[in-house]
Amino acid sequence: MYKALTCVLIALVGITSASNVFNVKSYNIQQVASPFAQPELRLTLCPTCIDIADRSINVLLELILDTGIIGSCSALCQALGQKTGSSILATVCDLVCDVVGIDEFIKMIDKADIDPIWYCEIAKMCAINDHGDAKFTKFTIAPASGPKGTTFTFDFAYTSVNGTGTGELDIDIQCPDKIPIGTGFLLEASKAGTYGQKVTVKAEPDPHCDPTQEMCEEWLPGTYNVTIQVCNGECGSKHPHSAIYDTVKGSFVLTK
Ligand SMILES: *[C@@H]1O[C@H](CO)[C@@H](O)[C@H](O)[C@H]1NC(C)=O
Ligand SMILES: *[C@@H]1O[C@H](CO)[C@@H](O)[C@H](O)[C@H]1NC(C)=O
Repeated sequence: MYKALTCVLIALVGITSASNVFNVKSYNIQQVASPFAQPELRLTLCPTCIDIADRSINVLLELILDTGIIGSCSALCQALGQKTGSSILATVCDLVCDVVGIDEFIKMIDKADIDPIWYCEIAKMCAINDHGDAKFTKFTIAPASGPKGTTFTFDFAYTSVNGTGTGELDIDIQCPDKIPIGTGFLLEASKAGTYGQKVTVKAEPDPHCDPTQEMCEEWLPGTYNVTIQVCNGECGSKHPHSAIYDTVKGSFVLTK
């Protein structure tokens, strides 16, 4: 399932489909503290690969639509490298395409049926754990209500007994004017433990939102319903190594 972005219509969401999830800049939603703020330096390729996948998927689609039949993984991935000027994009493309096969790879790109986490798991750059689990143990929204302009803080934690696979933390807000707001954060595969995170949402119009290009959230008075999910793989993905571990819901009220 697609992570709705700030001020973007549902109709647009269908077109952009499931790629570009993690590089979406959501003006209103900010991460305050990472659940993985650990003392030791994390040296994994996974976040880099997610970035590579984000940059590759739409270009691969363009290449397939523009050039028609492409006979081999190396031809397709070489074209990707040339078009983007990046040999690392071509290398990762080769890794994934060789595993799934050129026909299946093209079919999946055509159907916009590729998500960055799955792509990087196939490339063996993001860790897989299909016996993982996570349960929310805490979720508060403060303040419970306030006028337009208020910054609301979502404070939540989840506990995992078996650890988690590479996944996503997905935040969606249903607004009274029906414009969906949301974002997704990459969660690297983790050991068992309790992980906490704070996210702030500023209830004011995004100055970068252009009303001639998209619908812009006006932050009208009313109840805003919040849904947070912690997932193995991308939330809503139908690929292997994907599942929704847990969901919490809450709300806040804009008074004026
Ligand atoms: C946790 O791991 C154990 C042992 O591998 C397994 O039996 C159990 O089903 C796992 N729990 C979940 C939620 O997958
Ligand atoms: C929020 O949830 C309540 C209760 O389920 C529902 O009545 C209301 O319509 C929802 N509001 C929005 C903006 O979706």
